[in-house]
Amino acid sequence: MKKFSIAMLSMVLAGSMLLTGCGGSKTADSSSDAQDSSTSTSDTADYKLATEGTLTMATNAYFEPWEYYDGDKIVGIDPEVAQAIADKLGLKLEIMDMDFDSIITAVSAGKADMGMAGMTVTEDRKKNVDFSQTYASAIQAIIVPEGSDIKTADDMEGKKIGVMQGFTGDLNCTEQFGEDSVVRFNKSAEAVMALQQGKIDCIVIDNEPAKKIIEANKGLQILDSKYSQEDYAIAFAKGNDGLRDAVDKALGELIDDGTVEKIMNEYIVAD
Ligand code: ARG
Repeated sequence: MKKFSIAMLSMVLAGSMLLTGCGGSKTADSSSDAQDSSTSTSDTADYKLATEGTLTMATNAYFEPWEYYDGDKIVGIDPEVAQAIADKLGLKLEIMDMDFDSIITAVSAGKADMGMAGMTVTEDRKKNVDFSQTYASAIQAIIVPEGSDIKTADDMEGKKIGVMQGFTGDLNCTEQFGEDSVVRFNKSAEAVMALQQGKIDCIVIDNEPAKKIIEANKGLQILDSKYSQEDYAIAFAKGNDGLRDAVDKALGELIDDGTVEKIMNEYIVAD
């Protein structure tokens, strides 16, 4: 496992060096930029962007209500908060949808400027990316078919646990219950189907997406017993401090003036 992450890290480093080397990433410099900054609160824009004038956000849009498709448009809490951040910085927002597992690599390699995907801050991820302040908290919920003999998190011992590849539910359950206990899926819809067919015994996923899943699927329920407590933040390439600081400042203002809460309330019904 250690070996793997070191190999991955050097791959990522090589990738980002390559990008810088061939001028793939650009520096937004307000002094030499003719760009109109009247709408921008960032008077000292000094950061690298994947595409000039654009804030490129890497996400995985199968995580309602945080990010999901409405037709061919990606909507949700994260895209709306990101749009508000981009507006403050005087940038256009572009969203790149990818596997959740690829987000950190894309950000580290400078292909995207930030990863925003209901992403939990973990010590391991902090080795590869820097995080903004946290903007939401979550718990890992356990979804079971009604009448399941799984009543608490401990009852998952010896069961087949459905998780989403690379999500914290995957990382935590693999660590606690072992590789053989987890069955990994790329989309929650596939996990739900497996649960309904009895191929797995439960699904561990963040609580808000869990609520959306049981709303849409009869015969499933969320256990009262929750798994772990987590915080979401935005991820940046290590060393891209100028951008991280600018986004962090904008995010802080949006939290303070209630915009983030207002956006969350549009998508999340209090329980
Ligand atoms: N919070 C969990 C994690 O960080 C799951 C995030 C999944 N996000 C997504 N957009 N698919 O691992």
